[in-house]
Parts: sequence; structure tokens; C-alpha cells
Amino acid sequence: MLPNLYTCLSPALLHTYPVSDSIVVIIDVLRATSTIATALFNGAESVVPVISVEECITAGNNNNCITAGERDGKVAEGLTYGNTPFQYTKSFVKDKTLVLTTTNGTKLLHQALNSNAAEIITGSFTNLSAVCNYLIAEQRDVVLACAGWKDKVNIEDTLFAGAVVSRIKEYFKIECDTSKIAETLYENARGDMFYFMKEKEASHYNRLMNYNLEEDIRYCFGVDLANVLVIFKDGKLVAG
Ligand code: MLT
Repeated sequence: MLPNLYTCLSPALLHTYPVSDSIVVIIDVLRATSTIATALFNGAESVVPVISVEECITAGNNNNCITAGERDGKVAEGLTYGNTPFQYTKSFVKDKTLVLTTTNGTKLLHQALNSNAAEIITGSFTNLSAVCNYLIAEQRDVVLACAGWKDKVNIEDTLFAGAVVSRIKEYFKIECDTSKIAETLYENARGDMFYFMKEKEASHYNRLMNYNLEEDIRYCFGVDLANVLVIFKDGKLVAG
């Protein structure tokens, strides 16, 4: 029998999915899960996702830790580094621990943890193949959990869920309309996802463009640019 694949388009709906029996894929394409994959790909020892800026500062009060985070897309007050993937180059992160707090992505990860997710990995276009290969190999139920924006559905996370569905659907049972909605959106956009976001005036596209972060957006739609499996173990995200 094939395992089930579900897509949850908003954190507000997570409680309606069988999280405790599933691998939960945390998706925050712009930009948390793209930045996390990039940091681990570039040799960070681990990424510790935390909910608040205060926790970030306390947890990062250690040699070899970088404290970073954003609120509403901007570097969070009290922290030195933000959520741009370009910050986390090899020379900056190698062998370091990145303690990270973001508006939606790290928050959803904690929500999944508190809902007793059987397993947690993170996904973004930058590590699309690693995510898909892992899900195919594990043969367990999967919830693709989109971070969205403050409980609202967004286009970019739905696109990534759709890309995963499109790649792995033959290995899963999909009786879930949202997976089909996501796949349909992805099929419409896959030719040029940056242009699709622009044409649709996607909310976080507009927000990041207003902060002159076009390069971040373009990078986050690059497939397999940081192709590492990102898995949550013992309170940390590590390269699998
Ligand atoms: C988030 O967690 O909401 C984001 O990653 C926001 C961002 O930094 O673009």
C-alpha cells in the first residue's frame, strides 16, 4: 500500500492533518528554509530554530554561534544578521551554529514539534531533489506544511509543495485536494517562477522587492543550489 501525501497550505490548518504519524516538511521558500539549506550546504554545523529574539540571543550566547533573524522581512531588532541566504557563505558559517528566528518558518517548525510530528525536515527549491529523494526512500506518510504569511496562504510555498507533488506523486496515495491545487499552480508557473510571482504581485515578492532583495527572491527559486537534506534532530537542524 502506498503512503499518503498531504499538503497543508496554512499553519492554521496544521491540526487537521495526521502530523504525529507523518514526516512533516516545513516549507518557507522566501526565505527561511532556503537560508537554512544554504547555511548547512555551506558547512554550518547546525541551525537551531527558535521562536523569539530573546531566545535567539540567549541560545547564541556561545562561542561559534551566529544569532540571526528577521521580523516582517527585516533584520530583527537586537540581532546582527538577517535571513538572506547570501549572508551564509562557506567562509562565514563553516563549523558554526546558526541560531535563527523568523516570522513564519521557524514558528511553524515549533508548531509541528508541539504537535508531535513523527519527523521534521525542511524544504525549499534550493534542496528540492534532496527532499524528494528522501520522501520516496522513506515510504511514510508525508505532510507538506507551508508556512505562508501569518497564517495566510502564499504563492511561493504552495509552488514548492506543488513541485514536490509533481515529482513524487507516483510513490504516494494523494486523496488531498490541496496537493492537486498546489501541483496545478506549479504546472502553471514552472516555466519562470520569478516572473509568475511578479505577474501575480505576490505579497512577499512585493515586500522583499521593496527592501531591494530581488537577488534573494531569484536565488530562492533556484533548483538544487544547496541540495542537502535538512533534518531536525535533538533540537537542531542538521545536514542528513
Ligand atoms: C519567514 O519566516 O517568514 C521568512 O523567512 C521571512 C523572510 O525573511 O523573508
